[in-house]
Amino acid sequence: MIEKVGVIGAGQMGNGIAHVCALSKFDVKLIDINEAQLKKALQTIDTNMSRQVKRGFITEDDHQAALSRIATGQSYELLKDCDFIIEAATEKEEIKKEIMKALCPVLKPEAMLASNTSSISITRLAAATDRPSKFIGMHFMNPVPLMQLVELIRGLATDDETYTAVKTLAEKLGKTTASSEDFPAFIVNRILLPMINEAVYTLYEGVGSVDSIDTAMRLGANHPMGPLELADFIGLDVCLAVMQVLYDGLADSKYRPCPLLVKYVEAGWYGKKVGRGFYDYSGETPIPTR
Ligand SMILES: NC(=O)c1ccc[n+]([C@@H]2O[C@H](COP(=O)([O-])OP(=O)(O)OC[C@H]3O[C@@H](n4cnc5c(N)ncnc54)[C@H](O)[C@@H]3O)[C@@H](O)[C@H]2O)c1
Repeated sequence: MIEKVGVIGAGQMGNGIAHVCALSKFDVKLIDINEAQLKKALQTIDTNMSRQVKRGFITEDDHQAALSRIATGQSYELLKDCDFIIEAATEKEEIKKEIMKALCPVLKPEAMLASNTSSISITRLAAATDRPSKFIGMHFMNPVPLMQLVELIRGLATDDETYTAVKTLAEKLGKTTASSEDFPAFIVNRILLPMINEAVYTLYEGVGSVDSIDTAMRLGANHPMGPLELADFIGLDVCLAVMQVLYDGLADSKYRPCPLLVKYVEAGWYGKKVGRGFYDYSGETPIPTR
């Protein structure tokens, strides 16, 4: 039975996962290598829960009780009594494997592990742990408190007990699950990211401006956000990492990351989280940059 949840990585996704787990009455331990990021995550959770109070979705008591259930720290030791740990660190296979190696020795033998990776092989990540049968992909969508779906991805060794426990956990968090086989980028990002990459090619080739492309897809395809706005929201570093996994994993040139996306990431223009991507977020309203 899952009662204590560990979350590794306190970025956009980690803070969202901690948020929904704490509101669903799980004890949460949130870990990051970066102390400033932990402080920022707690502030973000506080602000987002306040917004839920204002909208009448939760009470102020729920808000305060949930905040008090979240402990933060930089050491994996904090996770030693957790029943379930979800890794939501930077989308780089080497980083995730290093985390698994360092983490496993401190965990309870029966603790289950998941990765929130957007694209990386669950079977390969599981192989970097001492418990591949208790490892699974649990792919939340961004922003976690608002998005309904959690993709569940079984690795080759994932056992039924782990799958059922994690599905039950997702349902307790109020989410709906969809199962995907363990192929690069699973279902949502296999379909979504090539569309975003194509939008960046459309910009790169001068077919349209940022504003034209986003307006066209919002009003012409009835998408709630334009693809470039969405890319900024996801993080251009994450988008590029997913395209690279698709390109390498499926060995098909149709997944070639757009050179303009590569350039933006090289410039450190990762999107909304750093204040600049295809839009500039330094003012009141986002301004298209091309
Ligand atoms: N951004 C999205 O829309 C989205 C959606 C679904 C899944 N994901 C996946 O979630 C994961 C996190 O993405 P994000 O957007 O939150 O990224 P982010 O850049 O906002 O946060 C990543 C965090 O991981 C931390 N980190 C790096 N190495 C670490 C380590 N060794 N130990 C502990 N913490 C470490 C960083 O300090 C940072 O705070 C990725 O695997 C990503 O693919 C992202």
